[in-house]
Amino acid sequence: MQPPAPGTLRILHLSDTHLTGDGSLHQGTVDTTAALTALLDHVDGIEGVGLVVVSGDVSEDGSPESYTTALDTVGGWAERHGAAFVTVPGNHDQRAGFRRVLFDGHVLGDGGGPLMHTMEHHDPSVPVRGQSLVAGRRIVTVDTSVPGAGYGELSTAALDHLRSALAEPAPHGSVVVLHHPPLPAPTSLHDALKLRNPEDLAGVLRGTDVRVVLGGHYHHHFAGSLGGVPVLVAPGVANDNDVAGRYTEETALIGTGALVVDLAEDGSTWSTPVRLPRPDADRRALHLDARSAARIAEAFGPS
Ligand SMILES: [Fe+2]
Repeated sequence: MQPPAPGTLRILHLSDTHLTGDGSLHQGTVDTTAALTALLDHVDGIEGVGLVVVSGDVSEDGSPESYTTALDTVGGWAERHGAAFVTVPGNHDQRAGFRRVLFDGHVLGDGGGPLMHTMEHHDPSVPVRGQSLVAGRRIVTVDTSVPGAGYGELSTAALDHLRSALAEPAPHGSVVVLHHPPLPAPTSLHDALKLRNPEDLAGVLRGTDVRVVLGGHYHHHFAGSLGGVPVLVAPGVANDNDVAGRYTEETALIGTGALVVDLAEDGSTWSTPVRLPRPDADRRALHLDARSAARIAEAFGPS
C-alpha cells in the first residue's frame, strides 16, 4: 500500500475481535486470537500507521484474560509500529474487565507511548469514556453499550461527554469511535441490535470538527454519513456477515478484515478495506513483480 502523504494520520481500524479468555471458538467455528494475530501479521508492512482502533466487541466473554490478549496483540503491534491504541466497549464487552486491563480505552498515546491512567473505581453502569490527542486529531470514544443488552444507545451522560469534548475545535479535527454505528442494519437481527438514537448523535455532531465516525458491530464493511459526517464500519475480525442473504436470516462466513483510514491534513478522508487471504480458498488471479508493474505504468501512464 502507498505510504501516507505528509501530515496524514493513518488509522488501522479493527473491530469485533470477540476474543475469549479460555480459548473457546467464537460461534464454535473461529479461533479469534489466531484470526487477529494472522490479520496483524498480514498488515505488518503497511507504512505510517499512527493509530490503531478497535471499535468494540473486543471480547466475547468480558474476561480480563481476553482483554489481556487484546493488549498483548493489538497493543504490542501498535507499540512496535509507534502507533497510539484506542478502543471502546461493544455489546459483548463487560465494563469491569475492560477497565481493569484497558482503562478508559485510550491505552497508548501519540507515537505508541504509554498514557497516564488513574485507577478510579467506576460502577459498571457508568459508560467508559475518554479522549486523547493523536497527531493533532482529537480521538473521542463513546460507549454505546447497554449492560446486559445487544442493542446500542447513547445515554444522556455519553452525549453530554461527547458534546463537551467537541466544544472547542482540535488542531486537525476530531474522530469519534463507537461500537454501534449510526447506519441502517443489513439484517432483521442486527436491526433489533442497532443504535436506537442515531438522531441524538447527529444533533451533537452537526457543526463540530468531527471528520469521521468509526464503528463496527455489523461484521461487514459499510460506508455512509450522518449529519454530513462520514461513517465507516470496519469489517469484523471474528467473521464476515453475508449481507446478501435473506433479511430475516443471519449467516456469517469465515473472513477477517480491517480498514486503513487516512485523514489528510486538509480534512480529506479515505478508507482502504483490507482482508486476510484464506490460503485454502483464495488463489492469486494476478501477480506482477515490481519491474513488470513499472513497465506497464510507463507504457500506459501519462508520458
Ligand atoms: Fe456488537
